[in-house]
Amino acid sequence: MKREDIERIAASLEELKAKTEKEAEEIRIRLLGKKGEITALFDEFRTIDKAQKAEFGKVLNELKQKAQAKIEELKAGVCSEGPADAGGVDLSMPGDPLPLGSRHPVSIVRQQIVDIFRKFGYDVAEGPEIEDDYHVFEALNFPPNHPARDMQDTFFVSAGHLNPLLLRTHTSSVQVRTMERMPVPIRVICPGRVFRNEAISARAHCIFHQVEGLYIDEGVTFADLKQAILLFAREMFGPDTQIRMRPSYFPFTEPSAEVDVSCNICHGKGCNICKGTGWLEILGCGMVDPNVLEASGIDSKRYSGFAFGMGLERIAMLKWRVNDLRHYFENDMRFLHEFEAAPEV
Ligand code: PHE
Repeated sequence: MKREDIERIAASLEELKAKTEKEAEEIRIRLLGKKGEITALFDEFRTIDKAQKAEFGKVLNELKQKAQAKIEELKAGVCSEGPADAGGVDLSMPGDPLPLGSRHPVSIVRQQIVDIFRKFGYDVAEGPEIEDDYHVFEALNFPPNHPARDMQDTFFVSAGHLNPLLLRTHTSSVQVRTMERMPVPIRVICPGRVFRNEAISARAHCIFHQVEGLYIDEGVTFADLKQAILLFAREMFGPDTQIRMRPSYFPFTEPSAEVDVSCNICHGKGCNICKGTGWLEILGCGMVDPNVLEASGIDSKRYSGFAFGMGLERIAMLKWRVNDLRHYFENDMRFLHEFEAAPEV
């Protein structure tokens, strides 16, 4: 047994480096494994005479302890891979994944509609969700006893006086505010949340979202309305989409119509989504009633306009075949994540 062998190994311990756990383990095996260099010295130690044992016993044990300490240090070092002062924090560990959200289907549809009308030159207008009776009903030509003004249809915030506060039942109130504020010509869409006192079911909810639109200028006709709706429907539902207008009634438009689009699922043949008719109802519209223009100070002899309004949950339902309105409000991640890639049908 030679002292230099022991000193050489002891000196080489200082130089040892390991980048990975595997490298540190290889060093352990090379030095302390069954056939390791230090193990071999201990094997040799057993065979030497007494006088030498006294000389080498202590240094050999010190060498083994030093080697063990070094290997432990290396193993700890590769775990914290990085500056030694990382304080035991393993900087090489992958971070906790941040759960990525996805856009809500109603937001996706709202954005698509806003983008389409922006292209047609419409601005976006917004207004308060807590409104007064005047902007939701009175200025829109609702007669005093209209059923929408009943507590059963509208959530009142304060009742009893002349112009009670209530949760808006449609965003037509924003159109009134726009007509009061902006000079003609007016071309706006009003996206927003609306509230109706309805029992919650698969087909109805007390909260939903609308986009309403208003266009006022000289010489605006029903033909312009029809063209705007047709162009919108084709952008929204595809270039082959047809529209159909059915006479309807709203207090604030005359004449009024409800608009159906050809069913983009069965392409008019009839399926369970369109209930066999080949048509899907998507919006209400009409020519702004002269009384409404006058109430907001617009000369109805000089100007005319059209308005339209649609429910976003309904359009999203048709687009993605969602069969229950309640899904939109339950925040179930399994439902919401289905729209990450926003598949269109
Ligand atoms: N305000 C109507 C509703 O909430 C929709 C509509 C808007 C109809 C504009 C005609 C014109 O149902």
